[in-house]
Amino acid sequence: MDQYRVFGNPIEQSRSPFIHQAFAQQTQQNLAYQSQLVPLEQFTHTVQEFINQGGKGANVTVPFKEEALALCDHLSERAELAGAVNTLIFKENKIFGDNTDGLGLVQDLLRQHVVLANKRILLLGAGGAAKGVMLPLLAQNPSAMVVANRTVSKAQQLCQQFANDKITACSFEQANQQDFDIIINATSASLNGAIPPISADMINAETVCYDMVYGAALTPFLVWAKAQGSEHIIDGLGMLVGQAAESFSLWRGVMPETANVLQVLRDSLTAS
Ligand code: ATR
Repeated sequence: MDQYRVFGNPIEQSRSPFIHQAFAQQTQQNLAYQSQLVPLEQFTHTVQEFINQGGKGANVTVPFKEEALALCDHLSERAELAGAVNTLIFKENKIFGDNTDGLGLVQDLLRQHVVLANKRILLLGAGGAAKGVMLPLLAQNPSAMVVANRTVSKAQQLCQQFANDKITACSFEQANQQDFDIIINATSASLNGAIPPISADMINAETVCYDMVYGAALTPFLVWAKAQGSEHIIDGLGMLVGQAAESFSLWRGVMPETANVLQVLRDSLTAS
């Protein structure tokens, strides 16, 4: 049976084994997928060991996504620009690296009938999470993508790497003076119960507000956006399932349906 893993530290919270086993059952693919806790200094060794055992592919999560990039013989353009790899494919004695996080976000947005083409997108944050989704978002042909960050220089650096005149960097104050159709929170502020300082004036009923973070309760950003009148608030659970589906498809050549798995995860989150 073909073997897959997710490598991370910590890893016990990972939903990936559940998701991939459900995908395998649904698409009748004969594979096993397990999580593996990797000691901080042993990422390369662990991957090599898994390859030697015949492993076919792996997901990589915190804190190894940059190390995974360095390990690859070949990288997708997405992974290269994201500066991080979340999907490894082992084939013909070579390691291929890809990044499906941004595809997962786009897939989730499209699934929820959010149109990205010709829309103005505001991306909040300029860390790894923001960087990882920029190329797939751009591929949807928005009219503009503005990256706003507390530390403006980080947003500027990030935007320079893309060399695309649709992308601009700015401060939160500057973003507050513009209009957007879609606002995506890629900061880690929610994890600390905080929200980026954006203006309530930017939100109306049509504004799509997306938080890459998810939890049993609405994130602080989504609570705030709802209170300002947005009728389109979305958390990152669909992105998690979407990135898994894209990885599965890269490995197995078949794209699984995400709706049922997403519903089971949502139910288990709200029951916890
Ligand atoms: P990740 O890989 O999750 O993106 P990161 O690289 O540490 O993590 O980046 C965290 C992002 O969240 C950064 O854009 C950070 O802003 P700074 O670059 O100015 O540090 C942003 N962030 C974290 N807490 C925030 C807060 N309370 N308000 C606004 N932005 C915040």
